Amino acid sequence: MITIEIDKKICNGDGKCVEICPIHILKMNEKKRIPEYIPGGGDLCINCGQCFAFCPPGAIKLSTMSVEDSMPLDHSKLPGAEQVELFLKGRRSVRLYKDTPVSKESIDKLLDIARYAPSGINRQPVNWAVVMGKDKVRELGGLVSKWMEELLSQKSPLAESLHFDRLVESWNKGEDTICRGAPCIVVAYGLKDDPMVPQSCTIAATYLELAAFGLGFGACWAGYVNIAINMSESVRKFAGMSSRATAGAVMMIGYPKYRYSRIPSRNPVSVRIKD
Ligand SMILES: Cc1cc2nc3c(=O)[nH]c(=O)nc-3n(C[C@H](O)[C@H](O)[C@H](O)COP(=O)(O)O)c2cc1C
Repeated sequence: MITIEIDKKICNGDGKCVEICPIHILKMNEKKRIPEYIPGGGDLCINCGQCFAFCPPGAIKLSTMSVEDSMPLDHSKLPGAEQVELFLKGRRSVRLYKDTPVSKESIDKLLDIARYAPSGINRQPVNWAVVMGKDKVRELGGLVSKWMEELLSQKSPLAESLHFDRLVESWNKGEDTICRGAPCIVVAYGLKDDPMVPQSCTIAATYLELAAFGLGFGACWAGYVNIAINMSESVRKFAGMSSRATAGAVMMIGYPKYRYSRIPSRNPVSVRIKD
Protein backbone atom coordinates (compact mmCIF):
# COMPACT_ATOMS: atom_id res chain seq x y z
CA MET A 1 0.00 0.00 0.00
CA ILE A 2 1.26 3.47 -0.84
CA THR A 3 0.56 6.23 1.65
CA ILE A 4 0.22 9.91 0.84
CA GLU A 5 1.05 12.87 3.09
CA ILE A 6 0.09 16.45 2.27
CA ASP A 7 2.04 19.36 3.68
CA LYS A 8 -0.94 21.50 4.62
CA LYS A 9 1.25 24.56 5.04
CA ILE A 10 2.23 24.62 1.38
CA CYS A 11 -0.67 22.86 -0.41
CA ASN A 12 -2.41 25.57 -2.47
CA GLY A 13 -5.58 23.50 -2.84
CA ASP A 14 -5.61 23.86 -6.65
CA GLY A 15 -6.82 20.27 -7.05
CA LYS A 16 -4.43 19.53 -9.94
CA CYS A 17 -3.36 16.27 -8.31
CA VAL A 18 -6.99 15.12 -8.14
CA GLU A 19 -7.55 16.02 -11.77
CA ILE A 20 -4.34 14.43 -13.01
CA CYS A 21 -4.39 11.08 -11.16
CA PRO A 22 -4.77 8.48 -13.97
CA ILE A 23 -6.75 6.09 -11.81
CA HIS A 24 -8.88 8.64 -9.96
CA ILE A 25 -7.98 7.65 -6.44
CA LEU A 26 -7.67 11.19 -5.05
CA LYS A 27 -10.47 13.47 -3.99
CA MET A 28 -10.52 16.92 -2.45
CA ASN A 29 -11.42 17.11 1.20
CA GLU A 30 -13.50 20.24 0.78
CA LYS A 31 -13.47 21.04 4.48
CA LYS A 32 -9.69 20.85 4.84
CA ARG A 33 -9.03 21.99 1.22
CA ILE A 34 -6.44 19.26 0.78
CA PRO A 35 -6.44 16.14 -1.40
CA GLU A 36 -6.75 12.68 0.12
CA TYR A 37 -7.14 9.11 -1.10
CA ILE A 38 -10.59 7.69 -1.69
CA PRO A 39 -11.15 4.66 0.58
CA GLY A 40 -8.72 1.92 -0.53
CA GLY A 41 -6.85 4.40 -2.75
CA GLY A 42 -3.47 3.50 -1.30
CA ASP A 43 -3.87 -0.08 -2.49
CA LEU A 44 -4.93 0.99 -5.97
CA CYS A 45 -2.15 3.58 -6.40
CA ILE A 46 0.21 2.60 -9.24
CA ASN A 47 3.03 4.76 -7.86
CA CYS A 48 3.37 6.72 -11.11
CA GLY A 49 4.09 9.95 -9.19
CA GLN A 50 1.91 12.12 -11.44
CA CYS A 51 0.28 13.86 -8.42
CA PHE A 52 3.76 14.40 -7.00
CA ALA A 53 5.29 15.63 -10.28
CA PHE A 54 2.50 18.07 -11.15
CA CYS A 55 2.21 19.67 -7.70
CA PRO A 56 3.82 23.13 -8.16
CA PRO A 57 4.56 23.81 -4.47
CA GLY A 58 5.76 20.24 -3.80
CA ALA A 59 3.21 19.60 -1.09
CA ILE A 60 2.81 15.87 -1.81
CA LYS A 61 4.90 13.19 -0.19
CA LEU A 62 4.29 9.55 -1.03
CA SER A 63 5.71 6.68 0.99
CA THR A 64 7.78 5.91 -2.12
CA MET A 65 8.97 9.40 -3.08
CA SER A 66 9.64 12.79 -1.57
CA VAL A 67 10.54 16.21 -2.97
CA GLU A 68 13.89 16.13 -1.14
CA ASP A 69 14.93 12.92 -2.94
CA SER A 70 13.59 13.82 -6.38
CA MET A 71 15.19 15.57 -9.32
CA PRO A 72 13.78 19.03 -10.11
CA LEU A 73 12.85 19.60 -13.74
CA ASP A 74 14.34 22.76 -15.20
CA HIS A 75 12.38 23.19 -18.45
CA SER A 76 14.91 25.72 -19.74
CA LYS A 77 17.48 22.90 -19.91
CA LEU A 78 15.37 20.68 -22.19
CA PRO A 79 16.38 20.55 -25.87
CA GLY A 80 14.37 22.66 -28.31
CA ALA A 81 12.14 21.27 -31.07
CA GLU A 82 14.90 21.43 -33.70
CA GLN A 83 17.38 19.62 -31.46
CA VAL A 84 14.88 16.90 -30.60
CA GLU A 85 14.14 16.30 -34.27
CA LEU A 86 17.82 16.18 -35.16
CA PHE A 87 18.60 13.86 -32.26
CA LEU A 88 15.86 11.38 -33.10
CA LYS A 89 16.43 11.45 -36.85
CA GLY A 90 20.19 11.42 -36.33
CA ARG A 91 20.36 8.20 -34.31
CA ARG A 92 21.76 5.27 -36.30
CA SER A 93 22.39 1.61 -35.63
CA VAL A 94 26.09 1.25 -34.94
CA ARG A 95 27.64 -2.05 -36.02
CA LEU A 96 31.35 -1.23 -35.94
CA TYR A 97 32.92 -0.66 -32.55
CA LYS A 98 36.25 0.49 -31.21
CA ASP A 99 38.20 -2.01 -29.12
CA THR A 100 37.69 0.19 -26.05
CA PRO A 101 35.66 -1.69 -23.42
CA VAL A 102 32.52 -0.17 -21.96
CA SER A 103 32.79 0.32 -18.20
CA LYS A 104 30.25 -0.99 -15.68
CA GLU A 105 29.72 2.65 -14.59
CA SER A 106 28.71 3.58 -18.16
CA ILE A 107 26.22 0.71 -18.31
CA ASP A 108 24.85 1.75 -14.91
CA LYS A 109 24.38 5.29 -16.23
CA LEU A 110 22.55 4.10 -19.37
CA LEU A 111 20.31 1.74 -17.41
CA ASP A 112 19.58 4.47 -14.89
CA ILE A 113 18.18 6.56 -17.74
CA ALA A 114 16.31 3.62 -19.31
CA ARG A 115 14.37 2.99 -16.07
CA TYR A 116 12.43 6.20 -16.73
CA ALA A 117 10.80 4.63 -19.80
CA PRO A 118 7.02 4.23 -19.64
CA SER A 119 5.66 0.83 -18.65
CA GLY A 120 2.14 -0.64 -18.55
CA ILE A 121 0.36 0.38 -15.31
CA ASN A 122 3.79 1.63 -14.20
CA ARG A 123 4.70 -1.96 -13.32
CA GLN A 124 8.32 -1.34 -14.28
CA PRO A 125 8.64 -5.03 -15.11
CA VAL A 126 11.95 -4.81 -16.98
CA ASN A 127 15.05 -6.60 -15.70
CA TRP A 128 18.41 -6.35 -17.37
CA ALA A 129 21.08 -8.94 -18.04
CA VAL A 130 24.45 -7.65 -19.21
CA VAL A 131 27.15 -9.62 -20.99
CA MET A 132 30.35 -7.65 -20.45
CA GLY A 133 33.54 -7.75 -22.48
CA LYS A 134 34.40 -8.92 -25.98
CA ASP A 135 35.33 -12.45 -24.89
CA LYS A 136 32.03 -13.10 -23.14
CA VAL A 137 30.10 -11.56 -26.03
CA ARG A 138 32.03 -13.79 -28.46
CA GLU A 139 31.06 -16.80 -26.33
CA LEU A 140 27.42 -15.72 -26.53
CA GLY A 141 27.69 -15.32 -30.31
CA GLY A 142 29.16 -18.84 -30.54
CA LEU A 143 26.18 -20.31 -28.68
CA VAL A 144 23.76 -18.40 -30.93
CA SER A 145 25.60 -19.65 -34.04
CA LYS A 146 25.47 -23.24 -32.73
CA TRP A 147 21.73 -22.91 -32.14
CA MET A 148 21.32 -21.54 -35.68
CA GLU A 149 23.22 -24.56 -37.02
CA GLU A 150 20.88 -26.89 -35.14
CA LEU A 151 17.83 -25.20 -36.64
CA LEU A 152 19.39 -25.36 -40.11
CA SER A 153 19.98 -29.10 -39.70
CA GLN A 154 16.29 -29.48 -38.77
CA LYS A 155 15.34 -27.55 -41.96
CA SER A 156 13.49 -25.01 -39.81
CA PRO A 157 11.46 -22.46 -41.83
CA LEU A 158 12.62 -19.78 -39.35
CA ALA A 159 16.27 -20.57 -40.13
CA GLU A 160 15.52 -20.28 -43.84
CA SER A 161 13.51 -17.08 -43.63
CA LEU A 162 16.13 -15.34 -41.46
CA HIS A 163 19.08 -16.59 -43.58
CA PHE A 164 20.80 -18.38 -40.72
CA ASP A 165 22.99 -20.16 -43.29
CA ARG A 166 24.73 -16.87 -44.14
CA LEU A 167 25.16 -15.93 -40.47
CA VAL A 168 26.63 -19.32 -39.55
CA GLU A 169 28.92 -19.26 -42.59
CA SER A 170 30.32 -15.87 -41.65
CA TRP A 171 30.64 -16.89 -37.98
CA ASN A 172 32.66 -19.94 -39.03
CA LYS A 173 34.94 -17.65 -41.07
CA GLY A 174 35.68 -15.70 -37.88
CA GLU A 175 33.35 -12.79 -38.65
CA ASP A 176 30.57 -11.72 -36.31
CA THR A 177 27.31 -10.67 -37.90
CA ILE A 178 25.46 -11.81 -34.77
CA CYS A 179 26.85 -9.48 -32.08
CA ARG A 180 28.97 -7.36 -34.48
CA GLY A 181 32.02 -7.58 -32.24
CA ALA A 182 30.34 -5.34 -29.65
CA PRO A 183 32.07 -5.19 -26.27
CA CYS A 184 28.78 -5.39 -24.43
CA ILE A 185 25.33 -6.93 -24.87
CA VAL A 186 22.36 -5.81 -22.81
CA VAL A 187 19.17 -7.87 -22.55
CA ALA A 188 15.84 -6.41 -21.39
CA TYR A 189 13.67 -9.20 -20.00
CA GLY A 190 10.71 -9.90 -17.78
CA LEU A 191 8.31 -12.61 -16.72
CA LYS A 192 6.67 -14.56 -19.54
CA ASP A 193 3.24 -14.40 -17.94
CA ASP A 194 3.21 -10.60 -17.56
CA PRO A 195 1.38 -9.17 -20.61
CA MET A 196 3.06 -5.78 -20.10
CA VAL A 197 6.56 -7.21 -20.51
CA PRO A 198 7.08 -7.26 -24.32
CA GLN A 199 6.18 -3.60 -24.93
CA SER A 200 7.82 -2.42 -21.71
CA CYS A 201 11.10 -4.13 -22.69
CA THR A 202 10.93 -2.68 -26.20
CA ILE A 203 10.40 0.85 -24.91
CA ALA A 204 13.06 0.54 -22.20
CA ALA A 205 15.55 -0.70 -24.79
CA THR A 206 14.61 2.17 -27.08
CA TYR A 207 15.38 4.57 -24.21
CA LEU A 208 18.66 2.74 -23.73
CA GLU A 209 19.54 3.07 -27.42
CA LEU A 210 18.73 6.79 -27.44
CA ALA A 211 20.59 7.35 -24.18
CA ALA A 212 23.59 5.55 -25.65
CA PHE A 213 23.54 7.86 -28.68
CA GLY A 214 23.20 10.93 -26.49
CA LEU A 215 26.09 9.91 -24.26
CA GLY A 216 28.49 9.16 -27.12
CA PHE A 217 28.07 5.39 -27.34
CA GLY A 218 26.89 3.37 -30.30
CA ALA A 219 24.12 0.81 -30.04
CA CYS A 220 22.29 -1.65 -32.26
CA TRP A 221 19.42 -4.05 -31.69
CA ALA A 222 20.55 -7.67 -31.61
CA GLY A 223 17.45 -9.38 -32.95
CA TYR A 224 19.09 -12.76 -33.59
CA VAL A 225 20.37 -12.96 -30.03
CA ASN A 226 16.88 -12.01 -28.81
CA ILE A 227 15.24 -14.88 -30.72
CA ALA A 228 17.97 -17.30 -29.63
CA ILE A 229 17.53 -16.41 -25.94
CA ASN A 230 13.83 -17.15 -26.20
CA MET A 231 14.25 -20.38 -28.14
CA SER A 232 17.48 -21.94 -26.89
CA GLU A 233 17.95 -23.05 -23.30
CA SER A 234 21.73 -22.82 -23.48
CA VAL A 235 21.66 -19.24 -24.78
CA ARG A 236 19.05 -18.22 -22.20
CA LYS A 237 21.09 -19.78 -19.38
CA PHE A 238 24.25 -18.08 -20.62
CA ALA A 239 22.41 -14.75 -20.37
CA GLY A 240 21.58 -15.67 -16.77
CA MET A 241 17.80 -15.81 -17.23
CA SER A 242 15.40 -18.29 -15.66
CA SER A 243 12.95 -20.40 -17.66
CA ARG A 244 10.13 -18.12 -16.46
CA ALA A 245 11.70 -15.13 -18.20
CA THR A 246 11.35 -13.86 -21.74
CA ALA A 247 13.71 -11.46 -23.50
CA GLY A 248 11.87 -8.47 -24.95
CA ALA A 249 14.87 -6.68 -26.45
CA VAL A 250 18.61 -7.15 -26.82
CA MET A 251 21.04 -4.32 -27.52
CA MET A 252 24.70 -4.18 -28.53
CA ILE A 253 26.61 -1.31 -26.90
CA GLY A 254 30.08 0.01 -27.58
CA TYR A 255 32.06 3.04 -28.70
CA PRO A 256 31.39 3.78 -32.38
CA LYS A 257 34.37 3.19 -34.67
CA TYR A 258 33.19 5.78 -37.20
CA ARG A 259 31.12 8.92 -37.15
CA TYR A 260 28.38 9.20 -39.76
CA SER A 261 27.86 12.36 -41.74
CA ARG A 262 24.27 12.36 -42.91
CA ILE A 263 20.79 11.04 -42.26
CA PRO A 264 19.54 8.38 -44.70
CA SER A 265 16.07 8.70 -46.28
CA ARG A 266 13.08 6.79 -45.01
CA ASN A 267 9.75 5.80 -46.55
CA PRO A 268 7.07 8.47 -46.61
CA VAL A 269 4.71 8.28 -43.64
CA SER A 270 1.86 5.83 -44.18
CA VAL A 271 -1.10 7.26 -42.37
CA ARG A 272 -4.86 7.36 -42.61
CA ILE A 273 -6.57 10.05 -40.59
CA LYS A 274 -10.22 9.85 -39.70
CA ASP A 275 -11.70 13.20 -38.77
C1 LIG B 1 13.69 -5.60 -33.48
C2 LIG B 1 14.97 -5.24 -34.20
C3 LIG B 1 15.95 -6.21 -34.36
C4 LIG B 1 17.15 -5.88 -35.00
N1 LIG B 1 18.13 -6.82 -35.09
C5 LIG B 1 19.32 -6.51 -35.65
C6 LIG B 1 20.37 -7.46 -35.68
O1 LIG B 1 20.26 -8.58 -35.18
N2 LIG B 1 21.53 -7.10 -36.27
C7 LIG B 1 21.73 -5.86 -36.82
O2 LIG B 1 22.79 -5.60 -37.32
N3 LIG B 1 20.73 -4.92 -36.80
C8 LIG B 1 19.53 -5.21 -36.22
N4 LIG B 1 18.52 -4.26 -36.15
C9 LIG B 1 18.77 -2.91 -36.64
C10 LIG B 1 18.00 -2.61 -37.92
O3 LIG B 1 18.57 -3.31 -38.99
C11 LIG B 1 18.07 -1.09 -38.14
O4 LIG B 1 17.36 -0.44 -37.11
C12 LIG B 1 17.47 -0.66 -39.49
O5 LIG B 1 18.23 -1.17 -40.54
C13 LIG B 1 17.38 0.86 -39.62
O6 LIG B 1 18.66 1.44 -39.48
P1 LIG B 1 18.93 2.57 -38.37
O7 LIG B 1 18.69 1.94 -37.02
O8 LIG B 1 20.36 2.98 -38.56
O9 LIG B 1 17.97 3.69 -38.62
C14 LIG B 1 17.34 -4.57 -35.51
C15 LIG B 1 16.35 -3.60 -35.31
C16 LIG B 1 15.19 -3.92 -34.65
C17 LIG B 1 14.16 -2.85 -34.40
